[in-house]
Amino acid sequence: MSAPTPEERIAELRASIARHDDLYHRQAESEISDQEYDALKRELADLEAANPLLAMMDSPTQRVGDDRNEGFQSYTHRERMMSLDNTYSGDEMREFTARLERELERDNLTYVVEPKIDGLAVSVTYEKGHLVRAVTRGNGIEGDDITANARTIRDLPRELKASGDVPVPDVIEVRGEIFMTNEEFQRINAEREELGLEPYKNPRNLAAGTVKQLDSSIVAQRKLEIVLYGRGYIEPVESLPETQQQFFGWVKAWGLPTVENQWSATSADEVLAAIAELDALRHSLAYPTDGAVVKLDSIALQRTVGATSKAPRWAMAYKFEAERAETLLKNITIQVGRTGVLTPVAELEPVRLAGTTVSRATLHNRDEIARKDIRIGDTVLVEKAGEIIPAVLRVNLDKRKPEGVPYTFPTACPECESEAVQLEGEVAVRCPNSECPVQVRRRVIHFASRACLDIEGLGVAMVNQLVDQGWVKRIPDLYHLDRDNLLSLGKSVEKSTDNLLAAIEASKTAELWRFVHGLGIPHVGAAASKDLARVFGGLRDLVDATMDDYIKDKESVISGIGATMAEAITGFFAETHNAQMVDDLLAAGVAPEAPGAEGGGTKFLGMTFVLTGTLPSLTRNEAAEMIEAAGGKVSGSVSKKTTYVIAGESAGSKLAKAEKLGVAVIDEAKLRELLT
Ligand code: IVH
Repeated sequence: MSAPTPEERIAELRASIARHDDLYHRQAESEISDQEYDALKRELADLEAANPLLAMMDSPTQRVGDDRNEGFQSYTHRERMMSLDNTYSGDEMREFTARLERELERDNLTYVVEPKIDGLAVSVTYEKGHLVRAVTRGNGIEGDDITANARTIRDLPRELKASGDVPVPDVIEVRGEIFMTNEEFQRINAEREELGLEPYKNPRNLAAGTVKQLDSSIVAQRKLEIVLYGRGYIEPVESLPETQQQFFGWVKAWGLPTVENQWSATSADEVLAAIAELDALRHSLAYPTDGAVVKLDSIALQRTVGATSKAPRWAMAYKFEAERAETLLKNITIQVGRTGVLTPVAELEPVRLAGTTVSRATLHNRDEIARKDIRIGDTVLVEKAGEIIPAVLRVNLDKRKPEGVPYTFPTACPECESEAVQLEGEVAVRCPNSECPVQVRRRVIHFASRACLDIEGLGVAMVNQLVDQGWVKRIPDLYHLDRDNLLSLGKSVEKSTDNLLAAIEASKTAELWRFVHGLGIPHVGAAASKDLARVFGGLRDLVDATMDDYIKDKESVISGIGATMAEAITGFFAETHNAQMVDDLLAAGVAPEAPGAEGGGTKFLGMTFVLTGTLPSLTRNEAAEMIEAAGGKVSGSVSKKTTYVIAGESAGSKLAKAEKLGVAVIDEAKLRELLT
């Protein structure tokens, strides 16, 4: 094969960048690292510079990516949101400062060096000091309105603080980044792993995916955070700050969360020294940081140098290289999850990376191994950034041994030897045997775990014994354990056996959502289980519901249950052994506590409420919980039987329907009043 012509290579690069842009911005996923992506962009920019006739305006080198998704309202930024030029090289950073000095004909410029936060860009508008809107960058001109989701961020004030000498502008777009801490990322991934779902790859993807959830009650269950560092439109113009550093002071005075670390520098050397300091400190910061942003401090000078079509010419990002190392892939093992997913794991020659020793890395799934042609005995490049799960990036083909053969993914479950299957539309390969011992073990462990039924004394070791003895083949078997059998295990004394049996008995009346979660329906975590419990009110009703019941009403409290989850639920109960499991649980005397019953309140007994629009301070889930705690019911649709419709900002068709039917409409304040 001959080398591609520049024209061919440009087309290839543009297609590849467009695909990665889509993965990154719209699907909140990524197949390649930032550095590899930046290298593609750099190669394209160089080729376009050398072949001006082939350069065109709609090239990805000329525009900002696009993060807009279906289901969100578009909103046009009053001032464009740009992206940043970036570099991995100190020399290029020097060229940047030299260029500014040349253009401004000054050698005494002041720069600000600040952390580059690895999250999702957002623009938050305050009018007369009130938070009115939060919008993603989108294509830089218009983005998705994510106000309801942003309101779930605890640190984001609804009002700007007015204090002495710092003005509160009539209108201001404050720019910043929504992110997730590593801690929260790991908590959510642990939950996903329990559900047999593929873990999210890094906190940035998860933060982006969360911001783009259509149901803000799901967003509220995941802890998103925000920092603000920049400005867009400001009115009146006289309220523009003079410098970036002064603006930082204002952001703080308004009570907005911002970065604590910021350096002032007056030469390229000082800029690079500040970047080095930041690098040394970055793993201890409260937010994920993937580089530094260097900005010209004076806002007047920023305006003088202006911007290109996609990025300001007064700022430059310096990106830290992710930590990577080559090591030997000794073996590929297969892990069987609770839902039967077969996950390939790379067993590596241990290697030091980002402060830890890495000996295993995820290979994600069968297709990924095939796409990267990863073979046992290969030398592979492993990447680990901070707390992120180590991943195999690619094979070093120069070091491939001639005897290496393509990896064949097992066609059978390594545990029970059932033939593995790949369901349509899924990347995962699964063991379809619901009695596969590993699956049973993991399912029972999940069911008994703290996140579900919270059965004391039924930990991993105990479950293993019960499964090994053949006493527990399915979850309902837990409710038929024989005391004498248990005592025959020898190791446990009478008292602990009786305690265990009592704990299992007590679990029969646990809250409904705990059972829903414990069933282990793919894609249904704790938050969704609570929503399902609230809407269906009983285990049987959940089994009998049709797909339409799940997604019938976009505005209902379960609107977060989109098509994927609805399909997972109906698919789960379509398998007779799963529906049978529910029957057997009920036959064993399981009688879950219906939602609302625990609150014991009676103020709203017999009343039905419908929520619509965005409430000023409560998420839907919070409002629903308050109503239910007082004995009321929350419904997804308005009818003559509805007692009150609670309407917030941008209320939709339900408000109209309430008015038509003459149903009383109240706001959040009135709801609170009724509750007191
Ligand atoms: S300033 C006019 N400062 O990184 C654009 N951006 O990769 C000025 N980012 O689009 C942006 N931390 O979303 C700026 N301290 C920081 C930042 C930051 C993260 C984001 C921002 C930008 C992207 C470029």
